[in-house]
Amino acid sequence: MNIVIFGATSGIGKELANLYVNNGHKVAITGRRIEKLKTIYKTHPDQYIYKQHDVTDLASSDIVFKELIAVLKTIDLVIYSSGIGTPNYDLTWDKELPTLETNVLGATKIFGLAYQFFRKQGYGHLVGISSLAGIRGNRHVPAYFASKAFQNNYLESLWLKGKRSKATIYVTDIIPGFVDTAMAQGETFWMATTQKASRQIVHAIRKKKKRAYITKRWWLLAILLRIIPSPILLKM
Ligand SMILES: NC(=O)c1ccc[n+]([C@@H]2O[C@H](COP(=O)([O-])OP(=O)(O)OC[C@H]3O[C@@H](n4cnc5c(N)ncnc54)[C@H](OP(=O)(O)O)[C@@H]3O)[C@@H](O)[C@H]2O)c1
Repeated sequence: MNIVIFGATSGIGKELANLYVNNGHKVAITGRRIEKLKTIYKTHPDQYIYKQHDVTDLASSDIVFKELIAVLKTIDLVIYSSGIGTPNYDLTWDKELPTLETNVLGATKIFGLAYQFFRKQGYGHLVGISSLAGIRGNRHVPAYFASKAFQNNYLESLWLKGKRSKATIYVTDIIPGFVDTAMAQGETFWMATTQKASRQIVHAIRKKKKRAYITKRWWLLAILLRIIPSPILLKM
């Protein structure tokens, strides 16, 4: 397969790239940190392609996508793993904006480019790494939680669109709980290693699932989160 992973310089995206390359696939990796891209590339230069790319630079997403198509010719799978989210107790705009730019605007741009390309190509699989955070609000990290709800709904919209398309387009929403990466800060529980999480993500992608909780046990918490009354949410 030819695979493109946005946000593969660290964490889940990096481990997914590693798993796919070890399974013989060609993987294009992106992210802002060029040194990290080069280091990963050097491990399998025959299978990796890298592009330095900031997803918040929306115009550059068009260019990078075109360049990747020119090199790969066909793309089977696009994974959007880029994401940020920081606590914002004072609700300062300077902290909310980058989260929205990365998780909402950057994501929507790549989702759209991938979907349109797949429609033209006749097939393809789009995967977004959202979060359990998308289920309810959170008073400490509002932009992050809201941005993940946006991703959940946008990906479901594209899933619906894909089902009605003449092309064979699959869309998968990956919904992690806690995964042991730079992003998972503070007190956590049910923390999965990036390896375990990524293995389960690869499995869900292979099964062409509409959505998958990572790790699987988070499915239970997702149900609970949907039904717990707001006064309990206030205590969290
Ligand atoms: N870890 C968890 O517990 C957890 C739970 C639920 C959901 N998630 C989601 O999983 C995804 C991956 O996060 P992670 O846990 O693997 O954290 P991570 O190690 O911090 O990885 C985040 C990735 O996003 C990329 N990125 C951030 N801003 C970017 C930008 N402006 N342009 C391009 N790439 C950008 C980073 O690359 P550069 O910095 O090099 O640009 C990095 O490769 C995120 O969407 C996150 O919300 C994580």
